[in-house]
Amino acid sequence: MRLADRMSRLGTETAFEVLAKAKQLEAKGKHVIHLEIGEPDFDTPRNIVDAGIKALNEGYTHYNPSAGVVELRKAVAEEVAKTRNIQVSPDQVVITPGAKPIMFFVIMALVNEGDEVIYPNPGFPIYESMIKFIGAKAVPIQLREENDFRLDTEELKKLVTDKTRMMVVNSPQNPTGGMLTKEDLKAIADIAQERDLMVLSDEIYSRIIYEGSHHSISSFPGMQERTIILDGFSKTFAMTGWRLGYGVMREDLAVLIAKLQTNSNSCTATFTQMAGVEGLTGPQNEVDRMVAEFKKRRDVVVAGLNAIPRVSCKTPKGAFYVFPNVREIGWDVRRLGDYLLNEAGVAVLFGTSFGKYGEGYVRISYANSVENIKEGLARMEKALDKIK
Ligand SMILES: Cc1ncc(COP(=O)(O)O)c(C=O)c1O
Repeated sequence: MRLADRMSRLGTETAFEVLAKAKQLEAKGKHVIHLEIGEPDFDTPRNIVDAGIKALNEGYTHYNPSAGVVELRKAVAEEVAKTRNIQVSPDQVVITPGAKPIMFFVIMALVNEGDEVIYPNPGFPIYESMIKFIGAKAVPIQLREENDFRLDTEELKKLVTDKTRMMVVNSPQNPTGGMLTKEDLKAIADIAQERDLMVLSDEIYSRIIYEGSHHSISSFPGMQERTIILDGFSKTFAMTGWRLGYGVMREDLAVLIAKLQTNSNSCTATFTQMAGVEGLTGPQNEVDRMVAEFKKRRDVVVAGLNAIPRVSCKTPKGAFYVFPNVREIGWDVRRLGDYLLNEAGVAVLFGTSFGKYGEGYVRISYANSVENIKEGLARMEKALDKIK
């Protein structure tokens, strides 16, 4: 079979590969602790599930407009306006099956072949994959542990060229849990305005924050028209399998992103969107409970990792990941990840799954019970002790 050239540039998300490998081991009877996959282990809150069932019973089973049902676009507009302190109309909202398509659609709509896009590295692997897939140049900006995994805005200035069209920011961040400060975002906003850049602001973890508060780059004067906010329901409401996300952007762009949706998914499932309305407008105590539980787990995982010889771990302020430094062990992290899975039955992701600057780190998702986290850490310690 002769493939299109662009397929050689398509990346992937290793989390799904490691999950598949772990499942294979489980099928053979091995017990595996899952610290690889980035999804809450909680069930979707009952009121949201009930709203989905009600919508099905009421016949929300047909196509709906490509940009999404008006009830949800309105609820998203109100939520985003309130939390980002900006004005948003429902016409600026496009609902997608998960937030991921927003990345693809926005990059397709705004970036030409040969343009440059700056993205965080280590970072969510789909940014780099999509940038390369469409034939643009992926320009990584390194997130360093010594800078709490925040990007260095002086370095950013130097990376921008006349070909730079867009930059991706993600705070709180996957895989490091790092968060940009308001000052960082202001500096990035200034650069974006000076150099006429669009900003894809991935704010999917904006509700999962333990210290400080969320700031969106869209809130700075003049930034809303050059920012696309990406957010969704997967993480905040434990709804990964429902596939529900959204982008908020200028209206003229929203029309085109909806057109890309017409050309691909047609629309997002209708009853799922009605459940999303309940998520945003219903009681929020379940979200608060999940975040409080994640915080407890974060503290357990950070303390546990720092107690393991040759491993050190920063305390992240948001998301549900830690990115411990395992460089002292002296193994390439891919080999280390395989070893931990096969020998210790602990599934983690190797740092390089998030780009070349992830060498020397692994990513652990603590979206798992305290009991499992403790067991996973104990197994890790024992297995690492065997590496001399
Ligand atoms: C940084 C980041 N952005 C976006 C997504 C996409 O989420 P979804 O498509 O499930 O809404 C993820 C999921 O892991 C993520 O970590």
